[in-house]
Amino acid sequence: MVVKNCKVSLGMSANTEIRYAFDSRSENNHMLLLGISGSGKSTQLECMESDVINFGKKIIEFDFSDSSFAKASLAKQSRTINIRNDSSISPLIKRCNVYGQLEDTVDFSKRITDLLSGALRFKALQQSLLYDAIKQASTGCNQITFSDILDWLSLSDSTSAISIRMKLQYFADIKIFEGREANGWQKLFQHPKPIQILSLSGFRSDERKVIAELLLDDLRSYLVEYGPGQNDFILVLDECQNLRLTSGMPTSFFLSQGRKYGCGVWLATQSPQYFKRDELAQLYQPALILNFQPNAEERSKICRKLAKDEKERKRLLEMFEQLGRGQFVASGRFLKKSGILSNRTHLLIDNLHTL
Ligand SMILES: Nc1ncnc2c1ncn2[C@@H]1O[C@H](COP(=O)(O)OP(=O)(O)OP(=O)(O)O)[C@@H](O)[C@H]1O
Ligand SMILES: [Mg+2]
Repeated sequence: MVVKNCKVSLGMSANTEIRYAFDSRSENNHMLLLGISGSGKSTQLECMESDVINFGKKIIEFDFSDSSFAKASLAKQSRTINIRNDSSISPLIKRCNVYGQLEDTVDFSKRITDLLSGALRFKALQQSLLYDAIKQASTGCNQITFSDILDWLSLSDSTSAISIRMKLQYFADIKIFEGREANGWQKLFQHPKPIQILSLSGFRSDERKVIAELLLDDLRSYLVEYGPGQNDFILVLDECQNLRLTSGMPTSFFLSQGRKYGCGVWLATQSPQYFKRDELAQLYQPALILNFQPNAEERSKICRKLAKDEKERKRLLEMFEQLGRGQFVASGRFLKKSGILSNRTHLLIDNLHTL
């Protein structure tokens, strides 16, 4: 399923409406929004979400900042799933590959260990203990719980095992991901409301990161299991500094292979400096980049990333310096009146409105 002719209005530039194609005409359907706090990223996301759903696309959004309630204009089209209380999607399950073969215990244990360790910054010894515990817990069964992992970890009284238990105990206590329904993602994609918001409300910041990485990886596994051509959706990751973009982590998969599975990723963050050097290449993957009032110290760095020569870099820097609320510099290829795509360019766009 591929939605054709998905044209979204970005705003006005020199009295002309600027439209962007989030469909097969674009190199990818990803977008990056950068800008200081309060510069208008979330507001712009909301405007654009309301446009793409009119073309039949679905939106899956991770809410890291309890802001879903703020999307008053999209309330009717949205459903919020509170992950703390709703276990319809559970990532602690072995998945099938595209040929229908069930993931084996070793691969499952490695995958879950890597995700938990990446988000909770476990050291090598902790990783090895966790890997063993997950392997023991998942031998002979397809689904595990955090309590199962803790049971196996409690066999060791080393300080490393105790420190992992402390970080996972809360998840076991609230029984997160227990009582899973079959086909959670499928039901979510088929839900009549086009915007599905996965709310991470009720968790501490480091816990939100773990839960989000686990869910994103399960979404990745679901897409791979069911194969390409089934869905057409935008994955909205506002406050994406909560996620790792390193290769092997799920967001990096969506950025590099999302197109095959009908997935565009919209990332928003205040600054690229939240990311390590190896993550920056992924951060700048999107074919469309919107810069809302970049942080003064970072302007020239961003310009160097986006401009191909010195002349372009200077022009971009001048544009950045003029930006006010509701304004941004869009870098990408835009739809001309004739329907043809422009060459890659930078436009100063005004989208100031009364909400
Ligand atoms: N295009 C716009 N037109 C009119 N008002 C706007 C526009 N964009 C933002 N605002 C106003 O600015 C406020 C902050 O905007 P927004 O929440 O979108 O910023 P943000 O970049 O997402 O900030 P943060 O990084 O803190 O999440 C909004 O509540 C809204 O009142
Ligand atoms: Mg915001």
